[in-house]
Amino acid sequence: MTDKKWTMSLIILFFLFLYVLFHFIASTQKLEKTVEQLQQASHSAPQMPHFVLISQEFDNPYWRKIEQGAKAAANQYGVNVEYIGPLRTSMDEQMKLLEKAIASRVDGIIVQSLNDKYFTPLIDKAISRNIPVITIDTDAPMSRRLAYVGTNNFEAGQLLGKAVASRVKGKKKIGVIIGSDTAENQQLRLKGFQSVIAQHPHLTIVAVSSSNISRIQASIQAERMLRAHPDISVMVGTSALDAIGILMATKNLQRDDIEIFGFDDVEETLQAIQHGKIVATVIQKPYDMGFSAVKLMMDHLSAREIEKEHFTSIEVIDKTNVQLEEAK
Ligand code: BGC
Repeated sequence: MTDKKWTMSLIILFFLFLYVLFHFIASTQKLEKTVEQLQQASHSAPQMPHFVLISQEFDNPYWRKIEQGAKAAANQYGVNVEYIGPLRTSMDEQMKLLEKAIASRVDGIIVQSLNDKYFTPLIDKAISRNIPVITIDTDAPMSRRLAYVGTNNFEAGQLLGKAVASRVKGKKKIGVIIGSDTAENQQLRLKGFQSVIAQHPHLTIVAVSSSNISRIQASIQAERMLRAHPDISVMVGTSALDAIGILMATKNLQRDDIEIFGFDDVEETLQAIQHGKIVATVIQKPYDMGFSAVKLMMDHLSAREIEKEHFTSIEVIDKTNVQLEEAK
C-alpha cells in the first residue's frame, strides 16, 4: 500500500471512531435523562395506600354492601381497598387472612373481630408492627385497635326485643335463631333481646339455635325447633339471612301462623315484609360502615385524632315503611 492510501485509511478510521464515540456519548446521556425522569416520577407520585378489608363471608350480601361503601370511599380518597374473606364463614380462615395481611405489611387493616379472645392478640400484633387496625361490624374492645365502626349490637338486640313486644299480642313462646355461637355481635344481640323480653311476662324464649350465618342452616334449625316446640308462634333471627331461612321452614311445615322478625335489609327480607310474610326487621347500615372505616383510616394516616367508637344507626322496618331496593 502506498503512503497516500495509508493516510486515507487512517483518516477514514479516525472519522469512523469519532462517529461511534459521538453516538455512544449521546445514547449514554439519553439513558441518564430517562433514569432521572423515572426517579423524579416515583418521587412526585407517592404509592396509593393499600388497605385490606376482611369480611366474615366473601359473598354474603350484607358484606358486599360493606365492600361497596369501602370502595366508594377508596375512590373518593385515592386509596386501594382489597376486599377479602372466607368463601364460607370460618374463624380459622378469617384469622389466617388477618395474619397474611399483617405479614404483607399493608397500610391499614379493617377487620370484623368475630371473637375477642382470638382476634385481640392478632390485632395487637398488627399494631405492634405499626399497621393500624379498625374493627368493623363486631368489635374487639379489649384490643389496641384504633376504632370500631358498626352497630351497637346490644342496643340492636334490645330494639329487636321492643319490635317484637310492641307488635305481638297475648301470651307467646319465642324461638330464636342466632348467626353464630362464637360471634360476639350475635351474643350481644341475643343478650339485648333477652333483656327486653324478660320485662314482658307474657313472652317466653323457649329455644335458641345457630344458623352459622347460612340461610339453609337457618331453615334446618328453625324446622327442627318448630317440630320440637310446636307451641312456638314467634320466631326471630339475628343475622342477615336468618329470617329468610325461618320463612323457608314455616313454608315447609305449612305454619303460616308464625310471626317472623329478622335482621338487616337483604332484598328477600324486604319483599317478604311487603307481602306480609315477615313482620319486621332491624336494619343496620353496612354501606356507611364500609365508607366510614376507610375515611377514618385516612384521617389516621393524615395524623388526625379519631374517636374510638363510631356507632352507625339502626332502625325498624315493617310493612308501614318498607322500601324495596329498586324503588330507592
Ligand atoms: C351481621 C354480620 C353477619 C351477617 C351474616 C349481619 O347481621 O352483622 O356479622 O356476618 O349478618 O349474614
